[in-house]
Amino acid sequence: MALAPPLHVLAFASPLQGHLSPMLKLAEALAIKGLLVTFLTTEHVYHRLGGADAPLCCRDGLRLRSVPDGLPADHPRLAGHLGEVMRSLRDTSREKYRELLVSLGKGEPDGLPPVTCTIVDAFLPFAAEVAAELGIPVMAFRTSGPCSFWAYFFVPKLIEQGEVPFPAPILLFVCVGGFSNIVVWVVFLTLVRRPRAAEGCDMDELVRGVPGTEGFLRRRDLPSFCRAKDVNDPVIQATTLATQWNPRARGLIFNSAEPMDAAVLAHIRTLCPSTYTVGPLHNLVRALDPSHIATAAAGLWREDRTCLAWLDAQPPKSVVFVSFGSLTVLSRAHLLEFWHGLVNTHHRFLWVIRPDLLEETGGAGDVLPELKEGTKEKGYLVEWAPQQEVLAHPAVGAFLTHSGWNSTLESISSGVPMVCWPFFFDQMVNSRYVSEVWRAGVDMKDICDRATVEKMVRAVMEGETAEKLRKNAAALAEMVRSCVGEGGSSRVSLEKLVRDTKLGVF
Ligand code: UDX
Repeated sequence: MALAPPLHVLAFASPLQGHLSPMLKLAEALAIKGLLVTFLTTEHVYHRLGGADAPLCCRDGLRLRSVPDGLPADHPRLAGHLGEVMRSLRDTSREKYRELLVSLGKGEPDGLPPVTCTIVDAFLPFAAEVAAELGIPVMAFRTSGPCSFWAYFFVPKLIEQGEVPFPAPILLFVCVGGFSNIVVWVVFLTLVRRPRAAEGCDMDELVRGVPGTEGFLRRRDLPSFCRAKDVNDPVIQATTLATQWNPRARGLIFNSAEPMDAAVLAHIRTLCPSTYTVGPLHNLVRALDPSHIATAAAGLWREDRTCLAWLDAQPPKSVVFVSFGSLTVLSRAHLLEFWHGLVNTHHRFLWVIRPDLLEETGGAGDVLPELKEGTKEKGYLVEWAPQQEVLAHPAVGAFLTHSGWNSTLESISSGVPMVCWPFFFDQMVNSRYVSEVWRAGVDMKDICDRATVEKMVRAVMEGETAEKLRKNAAALAEMVRSCVGEGGSSRVSLEKLVRDTKLGVF
């Protein structure tokens, strides 16, 4: 009797480091479970990963394919250009994607079975549309956490309620009757009714309208695009589009561990009953395949591994690791405030300063020699670190982070307390959860001066608060470890995802 061909899944990833790595891990996990996975990314990313020689191509059942993003090779694919990147990708690759799905459906070009299911990065709604038009089931993969998804989901409602954009403060007028009274009322009602930008409004006011977050989610913790002045802001429009289609997908996959987000997941499942929590994926893949050959090398930058030897020479829990992910850009002034704040703590630090971290022309190149000179005693600077290994190193005592979801998960998995300085998007929500829900760090959102940096770093490195945070972080790490272990919730969720995909039941 002929064996049934393996189920063929196509995973389409956004071309950004923070989206690419978890999608690759998910693809690996599915390949380990016996599915055939075509991993689709942009040509630009494909070449940065090593093309046909990319290490991930060694994994049985996993193949890499690419589509053009329509941008020139030297385009800065950075935070300030995200809209451009995503628009160009949508406009350029839509038809190519359709052609690829059609040709795969005919067993071309290499005789593989047709694609039976697609898993699409939630930020590529056009890819979901194309697959749906061809009658191929679509699952949505959110590379950010359930907590931020939930806040994103309610942004249209917050707009309807007049909560977003943030209203201006209510001005009090003292006046006496007559015509002036009418004018004052008109001014007053206009100010109250017309939503305004964030300046001058109370950013610490609690938000009503995101179920389950009452009592701790403040205006300043909402996704950064809620600070736009206008509801027609293109980022609000694009993120709303990228979120509202998710419940219509056959399933919604999160890179998170069930108990971390149990409360918000219960809400999410009222909208998306087929929600899977398979994270942290970097831990899950390692647990499934301890030899773990492939996507450790899924980084778009070359890792400077000399920092591991430097860490080996430092006492346990003595180093603050500083990294702002792959997209954050800093002004020179902010960079110096961080640097002075860190130096003033007298703690050792390892800091990732990407060549494109500085927003001013010239990048970080022109300040690096100055910083390196002043940092010799206690600090070590690199352009890109093997972050997961760094966070797992016994010398690391705290993480000063921009609260990207991957960084947050990696820190939690290693039991390292965080100082959060969120830069944009979901990071505003993540950092609030770190400080108020998981209690594994402190949140210095919206402030960047050397005194605050020093105070916050000391809080996670010294004294009673640090002790408590370390304990909480260690407990979280233990919980997350058990989720990816035999019988753990992430393992069970992955099994269910594979089973449902095979049966076509969602
Ligand atoms: C983006 C968003 O900013 C983030 O909020 C969203 O949740 C996912 O996409 P990014 O800003 O790059 O990602 O942050 P993050 O999610 O933390 O991802 C960065 C990744 O790069 C992490 O996996 C981290 O380990 C890796 N990294 C970072 C390195 O390997 N080395 C470094 O030196 C710095």
